[in-house]
Amino acid sequence: MTFHDLIFPDGFLWGSAASAHQTEGGTYNDWTEWEKIPGRIKDGSNASIACDHYNRYEEDFDLAKKLGHQVHRFSIEWSRIEPSQGKWNATEIAHYEHVVQALVSRGIRPMVTLHHFTNPLWFWDNGGWLNADSPHIFAGYVRKIVEALAEYNIIWNTINEPLVLATLGYLFGEFPPGYRDFDKALTVARHLLMAHGLAASQICRTYEERGLDRPEIAPVISATYFMPADPSNPEDIELAQYLDEVYNHAWIRGAITATLPEPIGNGSKYVPLQRSVDFIGLNYYSRMLVSSELDFLAGEMPPKDPNLERCEGLDWEVYPEGYYHIIKSMWERYHTPIFLTENGIGTLDDMLRCRYILTHLQQVHRAISEGVDIRGYLVWSLTDNFEWTYGFGSHFGLVAIDHQTLQRTPRESALMFHEIVTNNGLTAELQERFLGRRGR
Ligand code: GAL
Repeated sequence: MTFHDLIFPDGFLWGSAASAHQTEGGTYNDWTEWEKIPGRIKDGSNASIACDHYNRYEEDFDLAKKLGHQVHRFSIEWSRIEPSQGKWNATEIAHYEHVVQALVSRGIRPMVTLHHFTNPLWFWDNGGWLNADSPHIFAGYVRKIVEALAEYNIIWNTINEPLVLATLGYLFGEFPPGYRDFDKALTVARHLLMAHGLAASQICRTYEERGLDRPEIAPVISATYFMPADPSNPEDIELAQYLDEVYNHAWIRGAITATLPEPIGNGSKYVPLQRSVDFIGLNYYSRMLVSSELDFLAGEMPPKDPNLERCEGLDWEVYPEGYYHIIKSMWERYHTPIFLTENGIGTLDDMLRCRYILTHLQQVHRAISEGVDIRGYLVWSLTDNFEWTYGFGSHFGLVAIDHQTLQRTPRESALMFHEIVTNNGLTAELQERFLGRRGR
């Protein structure tokens, strides 16, 4: 196979992503309680210490800088900022200001996620995301944190993966609160959409009041490439299209067109969503084969392709082409810039991680060369961290963490990614080294 240099557009941003609960340690939220329930976390671990990033963020950002990262995406832990409803913790707000300053002083652009799966426990006392008032409750916290951080050159992410939260928490029962109810999942998806709109409005209002230019704002969605198990079966094709529509598109279309689209809502306008999407934050990991002969809602899935490599624990198939198709379908439908906010693989086989990143970036370059406006790419994740229901059993880090000593050690993939950043793309030589005969 002959490789060619794949150089990315000028100004393309490279970096990595993480979230508070998965890395900080010392958080107290709905996941803290969830982790205490036997069987919920597959390896029986919990995030009580996680990576101790709360205390070691300077060390982690030193590493990110050394590894060439230009942007870092992280989340604010709502339960730290608002430990009880309407009560604000000034020390924790100051902590996040220091975190942002630590990035800025290292020349790394902060991308701040306001909600990454976790919720304060008091939020559940009045119904959590099922409460019709939940979007407004969330917006109060957003206002507070944005007031504290507006002076910095931040890219804002409102909600991380609303459909993952809605489906894993309310349809498949794998995330708190553990419901299995389709209508509840739709209600939560609607409230998260409204929360995104209100959050974006709060951000804009705060900047305007300060006389500051409007910052860039985006939600972050997770997209799966759904494929019919039997490509010649019209019912399988229909199921794949239905899931693509409901899971990948309905929510983001609502955000972009300022509506609460069916089946998430009744198609009505929702004014706070207007101009709430400067770019689509897009996370992609894998494809999913679906069969009309199986009960998808009961979690029945067709067998996976034994020839494809897999993600540790989560068992996702490595399917780079799906990335291209997802990116193209987002672009063709919405013509809105895209920022690739998460992509990566949990594995202890670091050569697999190298191949994963390279083959996915080849597909990104393919989409860019066909005219898609992609602004940047973030590896999930900077360090190994607490992988939700898989605990510490899936290793997504460019940097390994020894969970006994908490020592950080950059993997070879981190050095490879550094080369990519330095060259603003994949040289033919780099691809040959990792994907050619020498890489196998
Ligand atoms: C995403 C999520 C991250 C991380 C990643 C890998 O869905 O935003 O928190 O866990 O998947 O599973």
